[in-house]
Amino acid sequence: MVKILAFAGSGRKDSVNKKVVQVAAQGAKEAGAEVTFVELESFDMPIFTEDLEAEKGMHAGGQQFKELLMSHDGFLIASPEYNSSYSALFKNAIDWASRKVGDEKPLQAYKGKVAGIMAASPGALGGMRVLVTLRMLMENLGTLVLPTQKAVGNAFSLFDEQGNCTDEKTEKALKAIGRQVAETCQKLKD
Ligand code: FNR
Repeated sequence: MVKILAFAGSGRKDSVNKKVVQVAAQGAKEAGAEVTFVELESFDMPIFTEDLEAEKGMHAGGQQFKELLMSHDGFLIASPEYNSSYSALFKNAIDWASRKVGDEKPLQAYKGKVAGIMAASPGALGGMRVLVTLRMLMENLGTLVLPTQKAVGNAFSLFDEQGNCTDEKTEKALKAIGRQVAETCQKLKD
């Protein structure tokens, strides 16, 4: 069975990006994938520095996140736009998981994986500028980022208190991204 890891670039409890990625995850599940949703802020990952790594080696939280990436076929990522790019929380996690330990191949967490990317913002443009930086980052790490992407604008008004998407068109678009990641992962496995 295809395994997909879903996460958002926001550590906010009520994050709209977490809601967005959960809707995409539903689409992946409907396409037969197993989806694991994780919250980046739950991993113990200090700000990465090479001195810290040289002194103490791979941090346990970074290793835990990296192993999760390695054990999944694809990713669903929804990112807030912070000053036109991704959050420090997100980039820090990506950097930790890019570090090689022992016999691991370089960038093993990312190479050959498939990703669907989304952004959400209370603003009208939905954080569409972060999709450019997010796509470039993930592709440079060796992940195949699917062409279809979605920036969800005015996002605070599109979810109810349970996190359900109340806008049919948005729900359909997000679920389609989840489905496409699941189907592409399956094709690569066949
Ligand atoms: C923002 N926000 C924001 N929004 C946007 O559309 N474009 C931007 O460039 C920025 N920049 C920005 C910088 C910083 C430091 C913060 C904290 C916020 C607003 C942002 O979209 C909003 O806080 C979202 O709610 C964040 O997503 P979550 O946490 O709800 O997933």
